[in-house]
Amino acid sequence: MVCAAEDVESGKTGLEDVRFVHNAVPEISKSKIDVTAEFLGRRFTTPVFIAGMTGGHGKTTAVNAALSEAAEQLGIGIGVGSQRAAIEHPEQVESFSIVRERAPSAFVVANIGATQVKEYDLEIIERVIEMVDADALAIHLNFLQEAVQPEGNTNAEGCLDAIKSLSESLQVPIIAKETGAGISREAAAELKKAGASAIDVGGAGGTSWARVETYRAQTDPLLERLGGLYSSWGIPTAISIVESLILPVIGTGGIRHGLHVAKSIALGASLCSIGLPLLKLAFKGPKYVINEITAITEELKVAMFLTGCATLADLKRCPLIITGEAKEILQQRGFNVTELQIRR
Ligand SMILES: Cc1cc2nc3c(=O)[nH]c(=O)nc-3n(C[C@H](O)[C@H](O)[C@H](O)COP(=O)(O)O)c2cc1C
Repeated sequence: MVCAAEDVESGKTGLEDVRFVHNAVPEISKSKIDVTAEFLGRRFTTPVFIAGMTGGHGKTTAVNAALSEAAEQLGIGIGVGSQRAAIEHPEQVESFSIVRERAPSAFVVANIGATQVKEYDLEIIERVIEMVDADALAIHLNFLQEAVQPEGNTNAEGCLDAIKSLSESLQVPIIAKETGAGISREAAAELKKAGASAIDVGGAGGTSWARVETYRAQTDPLLERLGGLYSSWGIPTAISIVESLILPVIGTGGIRHGLHVAKSIALGASLCSIGLPLLKLAFKGPKYVINEITAITEELKVAMFLTGCATLADLKRCPLIITGEAKEILQQRGFNVTELQIRR
């Protein structure tokens, strides 16, 4: 698998330009810090979510089993990868349904592309949700990837209308989800109008589908050029979190440690989702995924301790310093960065 073997991360999330102000007298006990998070009416033991990534062919059943066992033991949420594969090849259903089997009490998010929402009727989408007994449906937006891959579907017409009519009939909330190029304030407003209940920003800075495609496209010079040119395209995760706050937000894209989680929550995210690093660990087994998320939660608690924040709500009010490119981008996009620092 290209993602597991090659360097497919684009690097700059914008979080490198976000800093906390150290508090020399935090006046709280680290042992009393509460990292429980709330999102779409559910509570989670830590604001870390396992990003929707896989399902479909053979080996992915074991990977999804490891990820979902970790989610169940930790008391966190988990997404699955696009379920289009199972709709087109019913023999692949088990690689997805294993997630609900192994995580009977977890918040599980089903996954389908915006272009499939246009094609499929309601009965098929309901099957997607039932397959994992989902608590929410992620509709993924991946037009960067579609534009740089050989078989890509680059007809994005009518997606918003299709999401809107689906949202009017669906029993579970819709999470509009980018996959590495981020969501702008304008797109977030359109998605809210179309009935989305939350946004997973899938910002630039983590796994880059343009980079993945350059590895896959090595026999096609044009696709290799496109993948290279667009490998850093998109709205960095930190910026996209701020842009999307019109709805509850999952901060995703290049989240690699607890300080990234702390900064994302301080910018306004409700949860942070992690993809590629957890996928790599899932090949080794659930214990490795659990250890990683436990370590990330510990790192988050240290940031909270050193800023005197006893809860995630405190963290959202904590002063932040935003410098460099992130500050410039936010200012050019019309955000008052000083206000961002004192908003909390
Ligand atoms: C191998 C792999 C497969 C993925 N497949 C999907 C998918 O089917 N549907 C989707 O919405 N996102 C998919 N994603 C995107 C992730 O959910 C996430 O947005 C992205 O990996 C950014 O997070 P990261 O930088 O922590 O990896 C996939 C990511 C990876 C690494």
